[in-house]
Amino acid sequence: TEDALVIFTPSGKRGRFALGTPVLTAARQLGVDLDSVCGGRGICSKCQIQPGYGEFSKFGIHVDSEALTDWNAVEERYKSKRGMLDGRRLGCQAKVMGDVVIDVPPESQVHKQVIRKSATQRDIVMDPATRLLFIEVTEPDMHEPSGDFERVVLALREQWQVEAVEADLHILRRLQPVLRKGAWKITVALHKGNHDPHHRILEIWPGFHEGGLYGLAIDLGSTTIAAHLCDLRDGAVLASSGVMNPQIRFGEDLMSRVSYAMMNPGGDVEMTRAVREAINSLAATIAQEAQIDPKAIFEVVFVCNPVMHHLLLGIDPVELGQAPFALALSGSLSLPAAELDLSALNRAAQVYILPCIAGHVGADCAAVALSEEPNKSEQMVLIVDVGTNAEILLGNKDRVLACSSPTGPAFEGAQISSGQRAAPGAIERVEIDSLTKEPRFRVIGSDLWSDDPGFAEATKTSGITGICGSGIIEAVAEMRMAGIVDGSGLIGSAEQVRSVRSVPEGRTHSYLLHDGSADGGPVIHVTQTDIRAIQLAKSALYAGARLLMDEMGVDTVDKVILAGAFGAHISPKHAMVLGMIPDAPLDHVLSAGNAAGTGARIALCNRASRDTIEAVVHDIHKVETAIEPRFQEHFVNANAIPHAVDPFPELSA
Ligand code: FES
Repeated sequence: TEDALVIFTPSGKRGRFALGTPVLTAARQLGVDLDSVCGGRGICSKCQIQPGYGEFSKFGIHVDSEALTDWNAVEERYKSKRGMLDGRRLGCQAKVMGDVVIDVPPESQVHKQVIRKSATQRDIVMDPATRLLFIEVTEPDMHEPSGDFERVVLALREQWQVEAVEADLHILRRLQPVLRKGAWKITVALHKGNHDPHHRILEIWPGFHEGGLYGLAIDLGSTTIAAHLCDLRDGAVLASSGVMNPQIRFGEDLMSRVSYAMMNPGGDVEMTRAVREAINSLAATIAQEAQIDPKAIFEVVFVCNPVMHHLLLGIDPVELGQAPFALALSGSLSLPAAELDLSALNRAAQVYILPCIAGHVGADCAAVALSEEPNKSEQMVLIVDVGTNAEILLGNKDRVLACSSPTGPAFEGAQISSGQRAAPGAIERVEIDSLTKEPRFRVIGSDLWSDDPGFAEATKTSGITGICGSGIIEAVAEMRMAGIVDGSGLIGSAEQVRSVRSVPEGRTHSYLLHDGSADGGPVIHVTQTDIRAIQLAKSALYAGARLLMDEMGVDTVDKVILAGAFGAHISPKHAMVLGMIPDAPLDHVLSAGNAAGTGARIALCNRASRDTIEAVVHDIHKVETAIEPRFQEHFVNANAIPHAVDPFPELSA
């Protein structure tokens, strides 16, 4: 026979090929997803495949050990220098010599699936806007005069079928020495955003570039800036890190920052500078953590609320301080990172900012929608991204509504007497015995409860430093269940609650959660003021959710997803006892982790998802809480714990 049957797994794609066809060529012709950076030159090792031998009854063929050519010198060299798993071959070197079944292992697929843990368990398909391509460029010729850049463009077209290529001056200025140093072989980092008509060369290296290609997914919150550093080749999250948003010194919440900008000429510029500096230093820190060069970061995706969005871009946010809350721009935005002074990254790094929904519902909410896909849900799902400003989505495949609600920073441990951000030493879990009224708790950094033997030892380094967001939510909910706090949120006296842990404080009472004074540690109370702060925050959250339910015309939801960096740590039971979220069966309340951050990661790793979310956002109907009188009404009723009028049947069950 002159040709042979080639079957690829797991895709099942098959075809007949002339003997001697390289496996990579066969894969390309069949549209099999087999990676290659060097274009089949035996340099990158991305094309590794695993041939199978023996009977394949499933396919009705027998594969003998001579179905592929023997090892060639390129593969030998590759294996001895870098090593390869047993049985693996380089797809660009091994040639088809007989019927064969060839497995493409996950790491050799271009569109790798990145498994992500979430309530909804959807994977990310790798297809980033920036990729590395190795090319061989023809040498200049006296008789056929053309520029070196033109020959690079030609090589990209011929070897990678890439059309319309541009390069900035800083690339053009380095092109000639790089081409000569690499002996006319170079690697380019090529970028094409979802709206770009052109490919843009972001970086060039002589020869085959061994270094990596990285991106940052940044959730720019009013209180915290959280970033994931991702490998753009396989989607791996190499490090995750966060810093406080330094704009806090200009105002705790969004509105106070808008008023800072209104009252102080140049205030917006100051806040813009502060946040950009913080992003630069976060990028440097996270790169160091992952032991990579921050200059190898070529892409950044931002998700943020509209005020953060404007301040990041250097747009005065004053219009967001008053109705009709007009955004300077609500669509997505692609721009060079240099325009945002992100000098820690590669100088050619590109930024993509997800679209805002409207008014105070921002790109962070869009990112939550991208991650959790309420628009595909059969069930009526309520998604609450708990933050200083809560983003709330309600809907299903027919219709999605969104609003934001100013919950304030109490859920993040701010404005709480012993509050702190989630860090080792912070109380994160609380239980109160309803008979004795005695508490036990757990702190971040240890799995032990405070009454477990060994707890003191386990928490020796961190100490017990304060109480974080999830801790205060549990503390208040437990106090309510133990009868220390009544439905109006009032802490009873020692006689009323029959516990010496209720101590007078002015005209009110506080509950003593932990007394570390004997060891020089802090005394941690939950004060009446703390409870009021939590009541305000939770009423705002509930009222926002309730408003969307009114608009949708539903009284109950099928599923509640708690999202947000610490939303994930909130226990569904305690959230419901508190009346933060509407009543639902407890096992229908799920945690999605930092969904906004995940949405940013998806947009970073998959260019097409940017088109998707832009279209989804276009169809999301936005409800403005600030001017809606029913919001006030819901807010007042939601002040009680769990609620003044709305029933919580699941809770009582
Ligand atoms: Fe690069 Fe085979 S394609 S080594």
